[in-house]
Amino acid sequence: MPSRTARRRAAVVGLGSRARLFTRALAGPYADRYELVGFCDVNSRRMAVHNAWLAEEHPGRAPVPAYPAAEFDAMLRRERVDLVVVCSVDRTHDEYIVRALEAGCDVVTEKPMTTDADRARRILAARERSGREVRVAFNYRYNPVHSAVRELLAGGAVGEVGSVHFEWLLDLRHGADYFRRWHREKANSGGLLVHKSTHHFDLVNWWLGTHPETVYAQGGLFFYGDEAGGRRGLSRGYDRAHGSPEAEGDPFAVHLADSPLLRALYLDAEAEDGYHRDRNVFAPGVTIEDDMAVLVRYATGASLTYHLTAYSPWEGYRVAFNGSAGRLELLVEESTWTRRPARGSAGVPHGTEAEDTAGRTRLLLRPFWAEPREVEVPSGEGGHGGGDVRMLADLFGEPLPDPLHRAADAVAGARSLVTGLAANRSMETGAAVRTRDVLEL
Ligand SMILES: NC(=O)c1ccc[n+]([C@@H]2O[C@H](COP(=O)([O-])OP(=O)(O)OC[C@H]3O[C@@H](n4cnc5c(N)ncnc54)[C@H](O)[C@@H]3O)[C@@H](O)[C@H]2O)c1
Repeated sequence: MPSRTARRRAAVVGLGSRARLFTRALAGPYADRYELVGFCDVNSRRMAVHNAWLAEEHPGRAPVPAYPAAEFDAMLRRERVDLVVVCSVDRTHDEYIVRALEAGCDVVTEKPMTTDADRARRILAARERSGREVRVAFNYRYNPVHSAVRELLAGGAVGEVGSVHFEWLLDLRHGADYFRRWHREKANSGGLLVHKSTHHFDLVNWWLGTHPETVYAQGGLFFYGDEAGGRRGLSRGYDRAHGSPEAEGDPFAVHLADSPLLRALYLDAEAEDGYHRDRNVFAPGVTIEDDMAVLVRYATGASLTYHLTAYSPWEGYRVAFNGSAGRLELLVEESTWTRRPARGSAGVPHGTEAEDTAGRTRLLLRPFWAEPREVEVPSGEGGHGGGDVRMLADLFGEPLPDPLHRAADAVAGARSLVTGLAANRSMETGAAVRTRDVLEL
């Protein structure tokens, strides 16, 4: 184990809700290997909240120096940063990744790596020039059941994979959350086929050990947004829930004042930057889709039929692999929530209720000419089916062998992204899109 003087100096940019996973890890279980030396955000209140949380968990600890976004480069120099963890709004990832690499730092970035092809090219070029490392935080690769799928497929359990059928459902609580805040604008998030599906397209690339070549997609805004909401009588006349009597009793509203976490991180911080985290999901201005069908052809010849729905009564996914020697079926029920959430709970970041009902996981191998066999998979504790904890160990712990190649680099980040970018283009043009016409990899 390295001595304390050999600790690497880490900074986190974007101190919203997701950043807590990383600040806790760096200040807690990995404090013998890393020293948290800088926070950077456009919002000083949110950085103060993170410092307050760290002080609660580690009494007597000095606050992490907090820098405004305009002083990111100065922070890297002054704090002699070795590693930057990027957890800011998606459209800003590329700026921080490129500047960190150019300053000689390694980078861990939240997904999606970025939101468009030009930004992805800039990241890949900066990584090449700098020789530094970019790791994309694809926590789903570390979920034990996903690792088991990779092992089974790589071991030939179903022979050669001809096709994959993949359906992902986001429930009315979690799915709606993308329509309450910055994700609702495509310029910020790339739309859900980038922001969310980057996880899923990465899993397919990794499971099959291949990359996408052709993509066709259809999709639209079916449920959320002002037009659909108005047509179905779901709209209410408010823009954001806080202070709006019309939001009372709206099952789609999130009430920031009712949750100490949401109040501290967002409501009490919004005077600085006007970030409203409780927009009406049926208010105008939504430019992303909520229902999308994608057809992909891979370099191996395999095909994928994929569907993402953001307005489902339950949350989870089904994946099936059709192979030359059988079929592998995965069902994961992340949430069976069907009731209206308690006031104020609807906006709790992903996972709280899902974790309560998690574990309904079924991995079934159906070989040709033999009985189907259920594959036992160790259950994963913590967020994202246990993926978060295992990913942190891989990112910040002692280096260990990685036989499943779970560590995702910038090329993996771009390869997952290109399916969503090509799908976005296909939805615009109505034509199939070759991924190399979007981003040559
Ligand atoms: N891997 C996962 O499962 C997972 C889960 C949740 C979020 N995420 C990712 O984490 C990131 C953050 O998501 P979140 O839910 O915490 O969002 P959030 O809105 O809570 O936090 C975003 C933070 O970025 C800051 N920010 C905005 N513009 C900035 C700029 N120009 N410079 C610096 N900081 C800026 C905001 O002030 C805010 O503090 C996103 O990229 C998201 O995709 C990943």
